[in-house]
Amino acid sequence: MTFLEINNLNVSIDGNKILNDFNIKLKKGEIHAIMGPNGSGKSTLSNVLAGNENYIIDSGKIIFKDLDLLALNIEERALEGLFLAFQYPVEIPGVNITPFLNTSLNARLKKEGKKEIDNLELVKLLKTKATELGISLEMLKRSINSGFSGGEKKRYEILQMSILNPDLAILDETDSGLDIDALKIVANGVKKLKNSKNSFIIITHYQKLLDYIAPDFVHVMREGKIVKTGDISVATEIENSGYKYF
Ligand SMILES: Nc1ncnc2c1ncn2[C@@H]1O[C@H](COP(=O)(O)OP(=O)(O)OP(=O)(O)O)[C@@H](O)[C@H]1O
Ligand SMILES: [Mg+2]
Repeated sequence: MTFLEINNLNVSIDGNKILNDFNIKLKKGEIHAIMGPNGSGKSTLSNVLAGNENYIIDSGKIIFKDLDLLALNIEERALEGLFLAFQYPVEIPGVNITPFLNTSLNARLKKEGKKEIDNLELVKLLKTKATELGISLEMLKRSINSGFSGGEKKRYEILQMSILNPDLAILDETDSGLDIDALKIVANGVKKLKNSKNSFIIITHYQKLLDYIAPDFVHVMREGKIVKTGDISVATEIENSGYKYF
């Protein structure tokens, strides 16, 4: 089965080409890191994968679990187990995390023919995971992200991820703005969730998170495409010398 394969993807916004013949292949059980200078197209790639319709797909193909991903809408992609932790998580006033996750999680469980979770079980699970992530139980009662600090929003994204248990999780700069304790919590959250059936794409500017997570591959993205692929030493090279050699 092809887990994720992106072939010659070209994406533009307002006539500007952002992704330029982008290619990548991921297998189940792998963690891929993507680094790259500001504006190189990392968030564009995440948004296109998640199904944000503001981006124009000029050409190319994305296969996810043998499906034509571009033919699926945003909800269908989530049902297939695709999850994006946003670089800038949005505030959703009036929507509480419990019913939100209840709907999303049960829709997925149902699709997979698994037993749905009742609200009481979900609340229990949420409390356990929130405590692990250093999220106060008081925060669980508030509207999603409303008035949360930058770091709190990032932790909340990881909370949602650990409940939804996605097949493919894309973390877009989840480490930016996190204090060192939260960074370790996020890294442990990823390690705990990782198994032979799922994959992660970790977008980051810093080596620190990658030191904890130990990705299988580190890609460097520049002007809408991958210009180098290697191991963790690529991240060290970037940390030491920036992007001038790429
Ligand atoms: N809605 C939009 N309208 C116009 N240009 C856009 C839009 N979204 C993204 N771009 C442009 O696309 C390019 C790539 O942006 P993107 O957010 O994907 O970069 P990035 O690699 O995630 O950068 P960063 O490291 O700063 O998060 C940038 O030049 C950006 O200005
Ligand atoms: Mg970005």
